[in-house]
Amino acid sequence: MAGHSTYVPKTGFTRWLDARLPILRFANDTMTTFPTPRNLNFWYSFGGILTFMLGIQIVTGIVLAMHYVPSADKAFDSVESIMRDVNYGWLLRYMHSNGASFFFLAVYLHIFRGLYYGSYKAPREILWIIGVLIYVLMIATAFLGYTLPWGQMSFWAATVITNLFSSIDQILPHAGTAITEWLWGGFAVGDPTLNRFFSLHYLLPFVIAGLVVLHIWALHVPGNNNPLGIDVKGPQDTVPFHPYYTAKDLFYLLLFVILYAVVVFYLPNALVEPDNYVPANPLVTPPEIVPEWYLLPFYAMLRSIPQKLIGVIVLFGALITLVFVPWLDTSRVRSMRFRPLAKQFFWALVVDCVLLGYLGAHRPDAVFPGTSIPMLPFARLGTAYYYAYFWLVLPLLGLIETPKPLPATIATSVTGTGVEQVNAPAE
Ligand code: HEM
Repeated sequence: MAGHSTYVPKTGFTRWLDARLPILRFANDTMTTFPTPRNLNFWYSFGGILTFMLGIQIVTGIVLAMHYVPSADKAFDSVESIMRDVNYGWLLRYMHSNGASFFFLAVYLHIFRGLYYGSYKAPREILWIIGVLIYVLMIATAFLGYTLPWGQMSFWAATVITNLFSSIDQILPHAGTAITEWLWGGFAVGDPTLNRFFSLHYLLPFVIAGLVVLHIWALHVPGNNNPLGIDVKGPQDTVPFHPYYTAKDLFYLLLFVILYAVVVFYLPNALVEPDNYVPANPLVTPPEIVPEWYLLPFYAMLRSIPQKLIGVIVLFGALITLVFVPWLDTSRVRSMRFRPLAKQFFWALVVDCVLLGYLGAHRPDAVFPGTSIPMLPFARLGTAYYYAYFWLVLPLLGLIETPKPLPATIATSVTGTGVEQVNAPAE
């Protein structure tokens, strides 16, 4: 951790422990006295909320796994038995399935917060990249989990997504099919596939937990960025993490949990595809195979391109792009608060992702309701804008945009005395 430790063990036991395993010193320095910028807003609560949701997913998942049977014959019935026979099984399942949605909701707000305040810029590149790795693993975990109830949507989602690998045949004949069959453990999605998906679905959250430790470690070396995007200049700019941010984070966590509870108790199936309450049937393809809402933008990108391999490359490219963001953004100013042009492109990106999500829920040949306007060109435009934002707008805008003047320090900005300005553009 950066900086000097402020921990002083007070009892005989804590002195003894500190000399052997300074775990209390670590907790004190990272979560109690840690100097945190005094201007962090609501959007900075989502890191704590995400940690909480990861815990919920792991605990409910472990108990569900005690009752779930990962076999093509029994999986569907075992989930129904959890819902009907296991004490509070319905609660565990609804917490887990809706928990995934709330986990993604929080991670999207967390990622867009990072993009808006330029939190990926030096010296936080590694912190950002670890975040991207976590996000990719979250997607993999959610996809694997979705297949486990072995309903129609589970089975066909597993079939569609694993079949993406067969597109490799187009450049390396037979290799794609070989990889796909290796993933399946047979010649179609079946019992061995379900077994390995269950095993990996159990494993990955612990890998994510390990990465979260690295993520928070990488955060504590430079310390938090903040909505102004300027560096901490001295003690006047910070407050101790506890009690200031423990209290603030707990408050927002509580609001988030209330919203989560409303969905779990009153709308538990609002986000579920009804087809997943029909047992998997390899002989009947559902009329529409769609992923959960949080993967729809990527699905729209995949289906907007008629050539399968290129579609797959565009899909994975959209994720890989995020790794390069710290170097694609050439602006010398971090926060979009001071970047009038970049701000507009940022909000266009937000709208673009929502639009892609909407389009991803419809067939590629669909038209907008009540019109004869086809959706496909919009999905293509949306995909193009996503790429253009990262590969053209971020690199070029930093070179041509004149940012607004930055406040001298966080303290002057917070107390309203920020008359001194450090980067007023030379007139
Ligand atoms: C399980 C998922 C995750 C957990 C538990 C987590 C946890 C945290 C925590 C506790 C913080 C500090 C508080 C805050 O700024 O909200 C943080 C900051 C940060 N996270 Fe995450 N994170 C996760 C996923 C991600 C992802 C997917 C990304 C980006 C792709 C990301 C990028 C960042 C960045 C850039 C910061 C620094 C923000 C700043 O100081 O302005 N995180 N994260």
